[in-house]
Amino acid sequence: MMQPTGRTLRVAAIGGDGIGPEVVEATIPVLQAAAALDGLRIEVDRLDWGGERMIRTGRPMPADGPGLLRAFDAVLFGAVGRPDVPDHELVWGLIIELRQRLGLSLNLRPCQSWAGVPSPLRDPDGIDLLIVRENTEGEYAGVGGRTHRQSSREVAIEVAVHSRETIERIARFAFGRARARRGQVALVTKSNAMRYGYTLWDEVVAGIAAGYPDIGYEAVLVDAMAARMVERPASLDVVLAGNLFGDVLSDLACSFTGGLGLAPSANVSYDRAVPGIYEPVHGSAPGIAGQGIANPCACLLSAAFLLGDLGAARGAQAIQQAVAATLRRPDGRTPDVGGAATTRQVAQRVLAGLAAGPATTEPAAAGG
Ligand code: NAI
Ligand code: MG
Repeated sequence: MMQPTGRTLRVAAIGGDGIGPEVVEATIPVLQAAAALDGLRIEVDRLDWGGERMIRTGRPMPADGPGLLRAFDAVLFGAVGRPDVPDHELVWGLIIELRQRLGLSLNLRPCQSWAGVPSPLRDPDGIDLLIVRENTEGEYAGVGGRTHRQSSREVAIEVAVHSRETIERIARFAFGRARARRGQVALVTKSNAMRYGYTLWDEVVAGIAAGYPDIGYEAVLVDAMAARMVERPASLDVVLAGNLFGDVLSDLACSFTGGLGLAPSANVSYDRAVPGIYEPVHGSAPGIAGQGIANPCACLLSAAFLLGDLGAARGAQAIQQAVAATLRRPDGRTPDVGGAATTRQVAQRVLAGLAAGPATTEPAAAGG
């Protein structure tokens, strides 16, 4: 992890498709102003990677894309996906390819209650959980095939990959994070029905848990976890999951706390030797693209996450607090969270809120 020393950090900004460029452009001035609170300058390089480039060149990024990103300190990513390009080619060719080739094995998705934001839950207060999702293996490993194509005998096989080393590392990370939070880890599997991969998870994580006697540990089946998230989300602290379950459960969890427009994430490596990719959980939302009404908060909070990881704790905290203050105002919310503000208006309020300074002196919470 880098320490702020009054120097310049290089951030690659990949807007991507749909609302991606809208929320990334709204976020860049906030990122730069927040970094200045820690005495840092952020130099932003905009990369035109995504669907439009794919249509133009046949590839969503240059062949050496992952290598090019290594020159940066971090990446701020919007979203990819266009209705006129098959999702499995574009999403795979860009974001999943980057996660795998850069070895960004960890996907962190914090989720918290926000005052003033409507929720489908009767009691949405007190939610503050962190989903620690494995990001390169599991059901999204890309192993499989299709045969007898286009015939009635067509068969598709999708093989999940689970490795002991990966599970051990992510479990240690999850327990370490829990220690800095509320001291609870819940592992999500489906080991009653999937007898190989998820029984390995159960065994390995139970072994790691034994080394953290101060941390509460439970293994929960994914169906029970889905119900628990609806019924008692505030009972969860760190939720450790493989690739598929972590993906699905994080959309569920964030739907209680304002939805995808408020959900940030980070894709990082364990040793932080490669730049992390910080991105909203949401996709390119083609239905609202171009209207200027996308909620920029998920991207703004991803920028806070980025700054926190680069050691810019004050800037990270300032964005968190300015987003919270903005969301409390009826005119600080986009339509997805019950308001009528535009992307630009929300981002401008957050930018102005940075200048207003922190409301409390609590330590930064960015990134859970
Ligand atoms: P989506 O996240 O783009 O949209 C789901 C719903 O949430 C839509 O109703 C959308 O309008 C709304 N929404 C999402 N973000 C919002 C925001 N910031 N403000 C206000 N409303 C917002 O997911 P969907 O529709 O399943 O996928 C659209 C495209 O995005 C697809 O091509 C998909 O593959 C891609 N995608 C890309 C991701 C990435 O780049 N990491 C992640 C998820 C989807
Ligand atoms: Mg998802």
